[in-house]
Amino acid sequence: FQVPTPINEPVKSYQAGSPEKIALKAAVAQMRSEEIDVPMYIGAEKVTTDEKVRMAPPYDHKHTLGYFNRGDEGHVEQAVNAALGAKEAWQNLSWEHRASIFLKAADLLAGPYRAKINAATMLAQSKNAFQAEIDSACEFIDFLRFNAHYMTQIYSEQPNSAPGMWNRLEHRPLEGFVFAITPFNFTAIAGNLPCAPAMMGNTVVWKPADTQVYSARVIMEVLREAGLPDGVINLIYTDGPVAGEVIFKHRDFAGLHFTGSTAVFQHLWKTIGENISMYRTYPRIVGETGGKDFIIAHKSANPKALATGIVRGAFEFQGQKCSAASRAYIPNNIWEETKGYIVEDLKSVKMGSPEDFTNFVNAVIDERAFDKIAGFIDKVKESNMAEIISGGGYDKSKGYFIEPTVVVTQDPMFLTMCEEIFGPVITIYIYNPEHFEEALELVDKTSDYALTGAIFSDDRYAIELATKKLVNCAGNFYINDKPTGAVVGQQPFGGARGSGTNDKAGSVLNLLRWVSPRTIKETF
Ligand code: NAD
Ligand code: ALA
Repeated sequence: FQVPTPINEPVKSYQAGSPEKIALKAAVAQMRSEEIDVPMYIGAEKVTTDEKVRMAPPYDHKHTLGYFNRGDEGHVEQAVNAALGAKEAWQNLSWEHRASIFLKAADLLAGPYRAKINAATMLAQSKNAFQAEIDSACEFIDFLRFNAHYMTQIYSEQPNSAPGMWNRLEHRPLEGFVFAITPFNFTAIAGNLPCAPAMMGNTVVWKPADTQVYSARVIMEVLREAGLPDGVINLIYTDGPVAGEVIFKHRDFAGLHFTGSTAVFQHLWKTIGENISMYRTYPRIVGETGGKDFIIAHKSANPKALATGIVRGAFEFQGQKCSAASRAYIPNNIWEETKGYIVEDLKSVKMGSPEDFTNFVNAVIDERAFDKIAGFIDKVKESNMAEIISGGGYDKSKGYFIEPTVVVTQDPMFLTMCEEIFGPVITIYIYNPEHFEEALELVDKTSDYALTGAIFSDDRYAIELATKKLVNCAGNFYINDKPTGAVVGQQPFGGARGSGTNDKAGSVLNLLRWVSPRTIKETF
């Protein structure tokens, strides 16, 4: 059997009066008008507890969307037991039947659940309709359909045989269960992290970020409706360290599928290392982590295209994409013209609630993120090595709003050139156009991250030089485009150095991490 190569889910336009816009508006209004109680999903049970945690839209934090039920160590144990209990039947189900469930889930997301998953992402994660559509609808659907297709490749790939023998490769799932820990910023990533190991026959305990629980439960509803058996994916809302305390000491812990900050991933890796003798098998550790993503322009770059790349690359979803551009290197021969376009573009950008579809910039995720980003902006304001040329304002009275902020510095190692801010702030260093190679060296030495980066240039020699010199600086490198918006099946996504294990989400490489192949040789 084969799952044919899918086509990417088309992005809907949400034009005034379009059926998708009417459906999305209705879903947003419906969800705003109700207060829901979100259970954990453990085995066949929907579990509630006495500890209710309030969920609120980041752009209107006094409004209550509902409550989720915080779990404790006992719930983690239940989830692990449910995953282990479901394992044998699930891994023995043939891969075509596993694939069918996830293909049906993709169809449900593309059809009846599209408005609901997008509305949940808008309300709880503060994405505008377009950002929600490309994330929670299109990218998640693509992850499911492309991974089902890649399963075909993995299960059909076989070693050579010779007369007198037949060699087989059996792609067994890992022995034990997988722990998926997911971030707030992409509903698609949150969904893919438990689904990818499950597709390969593993069972999973999934712990989302608190701020993404609201859309995570829609994913669970979709998976259940698609026919996912109980216990294959168990969704818990226990504090990370509490969950870790149980899971990382469990003999059957077989793999970690993580996306989030570098600091948390390094802490988890260390814990797993310290506990290594407790496990039945060496756990697979897959992590996509932080970034300090760059744009470098050559003197031949087109200032208008460069300005568009900076504004969209840095400020879509308030800069809270791991891939967002947050440092740029621009030669002074094109700086004034580029600056003019950036400042002009940002004047037309509207900030506010995603419920008004004309707002490009919405709120950042929560108060902690707001305070951290505002703290960086304050440091810029206090410094005489940098100035703000656009934005710089912030206000958390109604929602966590921070203006798209453009900083220019004379110090290539200035604080905001080096640290991941994870918000709508980009810092630009202006360099002498005759020193392009030195600027490339700065890109390399300024950051220990290597997630995404971009070069803008009309000079093929400069493009080639940058591509070679920056070979280890980005897992995803873009030529004359913004460094965000990787599409599943087109630009496999992931970074190296401090940005992760680079196992390229939504690709064969990632799925292969969730199997433990057995080679069988039979002689005749
Ligand atoms: P985070 O590290 O704060 O949290 C990620 C997840 O880890 C959450 O579910 C959190 O509850 C959990 N967690 C935190 N401490 C834990 C612990 N001690 N034990 C177990 N779990 C724990 O990250 P975030 O704020 O949700 O997301 C933003 C970060 O994620 C940024 O650094 C961003 O660059 C990164 N990110 C990377 C990619 C990528 O593909 N490279 C994609 C999205 C986000
Ligand atoms: N796939 C997301 C992007 O490329 C993370 O922006």
